[in-house]
Amino acid sequence: MKILVTGGTGYIGSHTAVELIKKGHDVVLLDNLYNSNVNVIKRIEKITGYCPEFYNVDILDKTNLKKVFEGNKFDAIIHFAGYKAVGESVSIPLTYYQNNIAGSLNLYEMMQEFGCNNIVFSSSATVYGDDFEVPFKESYGLGTTTNPYGTTKKFNEIILTDFANANHDISCVLLRYFNPIGAHESGLLGEVPNGIPNNLVPYIAKVASGELEYLRVFGNDYPTVDGTGVRDYIHVVDLARAHVLAIEYAVAHKGAEVINVGSGKGYSVLEVLHAYEKACGKELPYKILERRPGDIATCYADTKKAKELLGFEVEYDIEKMCEDSYRFTVMNPNGID
Ligand code: NAD
Ligand code: UFG
Repeated sequence: MKILVTGGTGYIGSHTAVELIKKGHDVVLLDNLYNSNVNVIKRIEKITGYCPEFYNVDILDKTNLKKVFEGNKFDAIIHFAGYKAVGESVSIPLTYYQNNIAGSLNLYEMMQEFGCNNIVFSSSATVYGDDFEVPFKESYGLGTTTNPYGTTKKFNEIILTDFANANHDISCVLLRYFNPIGAHESGLLGEVPNGIPNNLVPYIAKVASGELEYLRVFGNDYPTVDGTGVRDYIHVVDLARAHVLAIEYAVAHKGAEVINVGSGKGYSVLEVLHAYEKACGKELPYKILERRPGDIATCYADTKKAKELLGFEVEYDIEKMCEDSYRFTVMNPNGID
């Protein structure tokens, strides 16, 4: 299949491109390089032996986006392009709504105009909010989002569901990711956060490399195993494999389907820290701080639907996630350059 991957040079997009190429798909990457580096493409080539076609295009730029569709007949799209920083979305909500909603609408209009009927969308467990009991089940529907970033994911789910309801040729798979971490085991692809990381594992990686002094643990008075927050971490390569299955599912079905992608297991902040210590072979300092506003105690997925519809199960455990993250950190002290 010929597949357009928007946000294709980003963290999850680049790993997904590798898995799609490995399965023999014809992959076309599109990205405006806002949060990624063009050298990612050489690394994809190094891993797979194949250099995917790349368009440096912004999805907000309708004229150039249209040219991409005029030059290609896509069977399907995987739509990763978007901004993703929760805290930043609270400070600049309009920028987030513009990029993540207006940009996405441009893409959906192109699908309609050029008869591309299949899409997989990057949604997030954040759409459950804190309204429901764990494990989070797809049947719960959409909760109350607590930040503009989460709201852009919720709106995109609603838009794509309405699109599929109104056009019976359209197939949308809305993947709700839990917490993707880790890196490609080659050490060539991984997550390169801008500035001081907000997320747990990128922050621990910088403590392990000596760039940051200690981990700030946000709260140890949650009703969890050791009082620290519990999340469902999934290896980015497992998540990438889920996209290959989801795109194959999308072309074989019609309508909109929401599917969780997680491991179904929860790990506390201190459990992740200790797994990382094992991976890097040293003790990592930490300090307990106040809870971070907006955080929930526990979040993990009900994974039955992913298994039933996609045949998806995770392969990698928390130790492998930390080992691969650490290898990427050591091999790329200046990021992907
Ligand atoms: P990322 O920032 O590494 O990748 C996103 C890519 O989109 C970047 O390369 C960026 O340059 C590109 N981009 C942004 N705006 C664009 C635009 N207007 N036009 C073209 N390209 C644009 O992020 P990621 O971690 O790979 O996340 C991919 C998707 O998955 C995002 O939509 C994100 O919201 C979603 N998601 C991520 C997580 C996570 O924890 N990483 C969790 C849930 C959902
Ligand atoms: N944490 C720390 N110290 C840090 C960073 C995080 O203690 O420096 C804790 C948090 O309090 C939380 C856990 O580690 O208990 C995980 O936090 P992350 O920031 O790594 O991840 P979140 O679960 O808060 O959010 C992430 C993404 C969201 C996405 C969500 C579900 O940032 O965009 O996963 O997919 F919506």
